[in-house]
Amino acid sequence: MGAGWYTPGMSQNIESVLNETRKFPPVPAASLGFARWHIGSEEEYRALHARSIADPEGFWREEAKRLAWFRPFDRVLEWSAPDAKWFVGGKLNACYNCVDRHVQAGFGECEAIIWEGEPVSPRTNHPSSTSRYASEPEIRRLTYRDLLVQTSKAANALKALGVKKGDVVTIYMPMVPELAVAILACARIGAAHSVIFGGFAPTAISERMIDAGSRVIVTADGGYRRGEVVPLLRNVEEALGLLRNHGHVVEHALVLRRVGHEVAAGAMKTGDKRGETVMHWWHDTVDRASDACPCAEMDSEDMLFLLYTSGSTGKPKGILHTTGGYLTFVQMTARLSFNLMPDAGQVFWCSADIGWVTGHSYVLYGILMNRVPTLMYEGAPNFPALPGGGGDRFWSIIARHRVTQFYTAPTAIRTFMKWGDHLPAAHDLSSLKVLGTVGEPINPEAWIWYHEHIGRKRCPIVDTYWQTETGGHIVTPLPGAIATKPGSCTLPMLGVDAVVVNEAGQELGPNQGGLFAIRKPWPGMLRGVYGNRERFVSNYWSRLKDPKTGEPWYFSADGARRDEDGYFWVMGRVDDVIKVSGHLLGTMEVESALVSHPAVAEAAVVGVPHEIKGNAICAFVSLKTHWLKANNRHPDELLRKELTSHVAKEVGALAKPDQIRFADGLPKTRSGKIMRRLLRDVAAGVEKITQDTTTLEDFSVVAKLRENEE
Ligand code: WT7
Repeated sequence: MGAGWYTPGMSQNIESVLNETRKFPPVPAASLGFARWHIGSEEEYRALHARSIADPEGFWREEAKRLAWFRPFDRVLEWSAPDAKWFVGGKLNACYNCVDRHVQAGFGECEAIIWEGEPVSPRTNHPSSTSRYASEPEIRRLTYRDLLVQTSKAANALKALGVKKGDVVTIYMPMVPELAVAILACARIGAAHSVIFGGFAPTAISERMIDAGSRVIVTADGGYRRGEVVPLLRNVEEALGLLRNHGHVVEHALVLRRVGHEVAAGAMKTGDKRGETVMHWWHDTVDRASDACPCAEMDSEDMLFLLYTSGSTGKPKGILHTTGGYLTFVQMTARLSFNLMPDAGQVFWCSADIGWVTGHSYVLYGILMNRVPTLMYEGAPNFPALPGGGGDRFWSIIARHRVTQFYTAPTAIRTFMKWGDHLPAAHDLSSLKVLGTVGEPINPEAWIWYHEHIGRKRCPIVDTYWQTETGGHIVTPLPGAIATKPGSCTLPMLGVDAVVVNEAGQELGPNQGGLFAIRKPWPGMLRGVYGNRERFVSNYWSRLKDPKTGEPWYFSADGARRDEDGYFWVMGRVDDVIKVSGHLLGTMEVESALVSHPAVAEAAVVGVPHEIKGNAICAFVSLKTHWLKANNRHPDELLRKELTSHVAKEVGALAKPDQIRFADGLPKTRSGKIMRRLLRDVAAGVEKITQDTTTLEDFSVVAKLRENEE
């Protein structure tokens, strides 16, 4: 097994990372205006990491004590692989830890959330103005006291809708402060939240609500994105129709008015019904609710949230996180990875949507617990768009709000590179101290650009490797301690026993490609796949085990190698999921969406390397000839467009294939398995989408040639 065998879904250019030798040493805290680094040298990191692995219980006991507990825990860990119980017997509340405790400690007037809305009117022709915009964006600042009042009201409103401890509340909202409020309100009363990213389609909403047994949804009439309105309420209403057909009753929908007159929702009144679902305006219910609501006393192992993520089967899985362990892990990782300190003038900005785990852990929970203001931006980086394309909104936000830590995704960085160096150059980015990236491997070119044009060669970059399942960072440089190398996520987080092994569980030598595993439980680990024990065990705990004891190890489904310094280089997924613009997508999800169209006989979806997105989606589709004939249709551009929008409608816009290629039949092995590797090669080998509408691809010859290889 040599480097490079793990080609599936790989978004790194192997050549460029194998030859990457640049190393950037950590800089003194003072050079960035930090009072200190939490961990200030590699020796200190190595000693702490060694201790955290040798004595995990001692290590995590201390970390957990940073939280506010209503009742202290009796034991740190009960571990019977793959089941972990952390901080056994402890009682606490997540909202209390993010909000109430700060108010009680006298920090009620400190800023908790700084929010900027998307809309501004572009200034067309007004030479006297220093601003390019005719109107300034809407900005809201919420203190911890505001959050306390708002979450208490929202919590009471949810209670009035019958939401109880243990229920799952679905949240489908734009990036507005009320999204944070809704999440914290659930935590406050002990209901689990299940946030669905606003880019998902009605089918995705209904599937997730059925799976979670969720009977209440919080949404908004719409949200702003690139100057347009995302019709969230319309999608929810459509989802309610689908749910009705399934016999799944949604009792209540709580709707925030965000876009008002811009959608037809003006017609909705509180108390209206959509089927059996009672509709409520947020301003009728939350605003009028009492602002006194005690925090529910939750067990450390009570469910905090579900978050659905794509897997290698068609159905997304509900990743289950619990309270005490998750909070302990995210408060620590947020603090150490970004050197967070309260009262130090820091403003933390993670540009991820709260609909993804990055937003859960590092827009909300991890940042609020550390009492550092967290910035939320509602919209797109290219709104308003600039002449010549692209946008500088992010740089303007950093400059205006004096952002100190900025956290974004490689795909965004590559987009910014394309838009041009002059855009960040026009802004004062001197407030920045630490930069972060997450979501997929970052190519060294993008890393260097980020370092030079955003960090102005001053700021350390933390390339944080983790997953929805891990709760928080599992491999990342600590900014004051670890020298960085472009493209490497460097060394394991404290308390995380990460290794690269072969199938037999043996650790591999330098630069040998293998599988990424974690040998010991950590507090932020998922506790299950909701309602699916089998999937939990088989997806994560079945492939790798301790060769001596046979105890299962956590397998992340990523290929990785370590270099001569022990640094990790993640090479990408080894299962049938691909990362498209940093978003995880099951190829099966897209395939099922395609075959649900009457024209499609079979579909196979593969990832193709893409300059900006990391991977693009290429779908090979064989058509039902009788259907084509009967409907007088052809394998043409029109049908391609129709299939593309069909996928968007079934899954969401982020799943739209970038290429659809019609084939006579799909290449299969004798046992009937689709030869994906062949399709990946074919897809990667073609520069331009074939516009030839008449010839179908004939795989029969290549398939025969390749059959022996599979
Ligand atoms: C997958 C998890 C983690 C929050 C957002 C994504 C890939 C993530 C990195 C990184 C290389 C990375 C992996 C992982 N990934 N961060 N820094 N370097 N790969 O969460 O949607 O659950 O995706 O993202 O392939 O398995 P997710």
